[in-house]
Amino acid sequence: MARWPFAVVRALRSTKFTGPYKRFVAVSSVPSIEIVVTPSDVDRVGHVGQQQFIGMFDRARWEVLAAGPGVDVFARHGVWPVVRKATFEYLAGVAAGTRLRFDVTLTHLGRTSFTLQQTVRSADDGAVVAEAECVLVCLDGSGRPGLVPGEIRAFFGSRPSVRAGAFQHVELAGLNVALDVQGDGQPVLFVHGFPLDRTVWRHLMAPLTGRRRIAPDLRGLGLSDAPDGVYSMPQYADDLVAVLDALDAERAVVCGLSMGGYIAFELIRRHPDRVAALMLINSRAEADSPAARDGRDEMIKLVQDEGTAALADLLMPKLLAPESLSALPEVADRVHTMITNAPAAGVIGALRAMKDRADSTALLETISVPTLVVAGREDQLIPVDHARAMARRIPDAQFTLIAGAGHLVPVEQPIPTSRVIAEFLDSLA
Ligand code: MLT
Repeated sequence: MARWPFAVVRALRSTKFTGPYKRFVAVSSVPSIEIVVTPSDVDRVGHVGQQQFIGMFDRARWEVLAAGPGVDVFARHGVWPVVRKATFEYLAGVAAGTRLRFDVTLTHLGRTSFTLQQTVRSADDGAVVAEAECVLVCLDGSGRPGLVPGEIRAFFGSRPSVRAGAFQHVELAGLNVALDVQGDGQPVLFVHGFPLDRTVWRHLMAPLTGRRRIAPDLRGLGLSDAPDGVYSMPQYADDLVAVLDALDAERAVVCGLSMGGYIAFELIRRHPDRVAALMLINSRAEADSPAARDGRDEMIKLVQDEGTAALADLLMPKLLAPESLSALPEVADRVHTMITNAPAAGVIGALRAMKDRADSTALLETISVPTLVVAGREDQLIPVDHARAMARRIPDAQFTLIAGAGHLVPVEQPIPTSRVIAEFLDSLA
């Protein structure tokens, strides 16, 4: 391993989240790494430079491996982890002498790829100064994807853990809801689709600095509790209002992906004063047709008989555009794993909730908040013309088409989608 200009002081056990939301608890499954910033790491105005920070993130990743399965874990299995994608977000300046604590957690574990989230805090006051997410793909000697070593799974725990600091949970009338909250400013509430979780927003959310980005897991999905029985669009909407209440967020821009859009309509119906503006991504206003309702029953039976992995196999070709499936194997892997890991009770609950949802077409003309409709050019579940027609019925709504994406534009094309969302949010100011 290369020598680094930073003093690695010691590995620490992760601690309780000490941010402003005292009822939230952060979780980390592996020891943290502490690094002291030296004078040579900082620029003329006293802040750690970008290259140095990237180096620190890299260093912390290897230190974590060294503390666990060993830095040669990949070589032992004849694969090498290649960084496929990395995002960094700098949240505060850091001066020489600052002790930084790096929490590294696994947020996605697929067959051939895994994702690590890193949160950097000042070790003195716990303030988050930077965050990074890194998607690593294991390649064998001939450049083909190889299996992620089993020791990685064992080291981080059998289920992917969650990012320390960014992951929080809030208890709403006995229901634990997991959520990511990032940044300050105008609250923007991101509502994921079916049968996914809050992590679909991660890449898209990271660049939207200057806003308070709130991405919960809906009840029954992701890491939120999955009680039996209580699932409906009104219930999801009420849960989200309770999340906003817990965060003291009076009004939010609501961004719903597909089923998240169905829930956004319910928010407008039930809690119009909580919605400052609306973004509908790959979504529709109509209720299910009789054929679609039958399809929901078939999916419920599939999950009951064969489990969520069978549902993932069925849905994958419909969710992602063909070019995403072939060109973005780590994204396909991530979505497949997300569906496979979804609790069956929550998946079945969501299917029943969608089957019984109200028609929202009559609501469209009454929407009085600024609205953006986004569609994926290759969406097989909600055709582009359909989304465009929905946008036309909403007064003054904007419509944007994202190329190279199917039904999941936030994961297939996070960068252009994030840009479109940023422009829309800027236009509200
Ligand atoms: C979703 O992405 O949330 C679902 O495809 C919505 C649906 O099945 O109607």
